[in-house]
Amino acid sequence: MTLKVNPVLELTFSSFTPAVNSAQQQAYLSHLEHGGILFLPNLGFEFAADETRFLSPDWSDGKSKNIYLSGNERHIKGAKGNVEELTAMSALIERYSQNATALIAHLLPSYMLHAKPANTSLRCVEAAGRKSSWRKDDRRLHADAFPSKPTHGERILRVFTNVNPHNKPRVWNVGEPFTDMAAKFLPKVPKYRAAQAKWLKLLGITKTLRGEYDHIMLHLHDLTKADTDYQANAPQLRFEFPANSTWVVYSDLVLHAVLSGQHMMEQTFHLPQEKLSFPAVCPKYIIEHIAKRHINC
Ligand SMILES: [Fe+2]
Repeated sequence: MTLKVNPVLELTFSSFTPAVNSAQQQAYLSHLEHGGILFLPNLGFEFAADETRFLSPDWSDGKSKNIYLSGNERHIKGAKGNVEELTAMSALIERYSQNATALIAHLLPSYMLHAKPANTSLRCVEAAGRKSSWRKDDRRLHADAFPSKPTHGERILRVFTNVNPHNKPRVWNVGEPFTDMAAKFLPKVPKYRAAQAKWLKLLGITKTLRGEYDHIMLHLHDLTKADTDYQANAPQLRFEFPANSTWVVYSDLVLHAVLSGQHMMEQTFHLPQEKLSFPAVCPKYIIEHIAKRHINC
């Protein structure tokens, strides 16, 4: 079954610092917060000649699926190499981070006071054949939620750029609206237990105490991925992001499945939900509306 509404809004800009007027900025903000995707088919990210070597998946340390600069520390993780190589790799990833931040500053300037840059990643492993457990299998439709990293209600905004050197698209299925998914799966989410959350924190399984919001988001993520009937029959739209294109999305709101693709860069931002322009369509409000009660973060 396909989607009733195409969630992809195409923008023709070819610069990470586009000239955007305030009416356009408002339209982009509304589109994103209502579960749309901003797609920039003419916006690629250039590698210098001596940086193309980093497109090989062989730089992975084999433990992490991505090479990334972690949020605050900006230490490179998931990579192997000597000091010169890791320094050059870090500089490449940091340059992408600066470009992605500039893009948000121009498209969505009202976010800039509150958006917190988190990880920046270089993903050179082919998505299609990657072996993983069903829970980590991003080829299944899901909205992002992470077991070890509670967001406490902060939103997950992501900028992606396909940097494939062989013109290979990154292929997604985009799922139904979050509201429709949550209405189906929320009744199946087990009751939140504060004592269990404390144990998870004590054992180091979560970096901070997991509140009820993150408990629900994680179970919605797992329930959708585990449901093979839902995966096969839920409304979804196949979309190809070509090489040298960029897209922006709230990945905690938009259901997505990564079917195939290799070589991508990504910047995550966290945004406090009280700074959204349309809080009534954020995951927490949608969950509270369906559950008919307040949810703690
Ligand atoms: Fe995801």
